[in-house]
Amino acid sequence: MPLNPFDLTDQTVVIVGASSGIGAATARLSSELGADVILVSRSMDKLEAVRATLPHPEKARSIAADYLDREGLEDSFSDVGSVHHIVIPAVANENKKRGAFTALSVDTMRASFDKFWGQTFVVQALSQHIMPSGSVTLFASVAGLKPSGADSGLSIMNGVQAAVMQTGRSLAIELAPVRVNVLAPGVVLTNVWTGEQRDDLKSWMEATLPVRISGEPEHIAQAAVSLMTNPYISGAVLPVDGGLHIS
Ligand SMILES: NC(=O)c1ccc[n+]([C@@H]2O[C@H](COP(=O)([O-])OP(=O)(O)OC[C@H]3O[C@@H](n4cnc5c(N)ncnc54)[C@H](OP(=O)(O)O)[C@@H]3O)[C@@H](O)[C@H]2O)c1
Repeated sequence: MPLNPFDLTDQTVVIVGASSGIGAATARLSSELGADVILVSRSMDKLEAVRATLPHPEKARSIAADYLDREGLEDSFSDVGSVHHIVIPAVANENKKRGAFTALSVDTMRASFDKFWGQTFVVQALSQHIMPSGSVTLFASVAGLKPSGADSGLSIMNGVQAAVMQTGRSLAIELAPVRVNVLAPGVVLTNVWTGEQRDDLKSWMEATLPVRISGEPEHIAQAAVSLMTNPYISGAVLPVDGGLHIS
């Protein structure tokens, strides 16, 4: 057991969705812990802005890629070499996919599954690069465990989160000894929410969650590093939600 069990020195960590929120926080913590970080999202400008904030930007590089472009991903990752850990918090327009079930358009319902396909495509495209001792961390939401209420308009998205969970558990068997786990965040104060929503959610979390604090990207990043570094965790679905799933 190393002195620091979270040490990532000489380990390459690929983070898809690294230009914002949870992905950016995971990039910062991984860099702090010594990793060579590969930041991926659609925007090179945003990635480079995050890279400049890393403790060790010289050990990081950015790749602009769309995780929905399965063939493009193959090219984008062609020269990444061996990869130890893959973390995929990428998501787009999740809140725009809300709506009453009977009113949801076919296009919106289909687009809800982008998050499922994007993560699947990344794992396929990187499958030849990942080390046997490595790990994959997929992203769902606690709403895949405890469905959010009718007024949330998330009936289809909740199903997508559960699909990510069960595919992650299946991959933990199929890709073994590579470890595969799924993070299920609760509410986290990132750019998926407007400023006004963040203020309201902060007050709500501090008043009602069992932990009485609000969810920050750094809380999820800390859990992601735990899943990367603990060699005995695979097939786990980990809620990191301040206790929302039991409240
Ligand atoms: N925040 C919450 O309250 C909350 C709650 C439950 C679950 N989650 C889950 O946690 C994960 C991270 O959420 P977050 O709040 O950190 O989101 P975020 O701040 O909006 O970040 C999303 C990231 O995904 C990237 N992205 C979007 N579409 C992409 C695409 N097609 N290809 C590649 N990258 C793409 C974005 O970068 P570019 O725009 O540069 O491409 C950005 O870096 C998601 O799976 C989300 O569902 C979040």
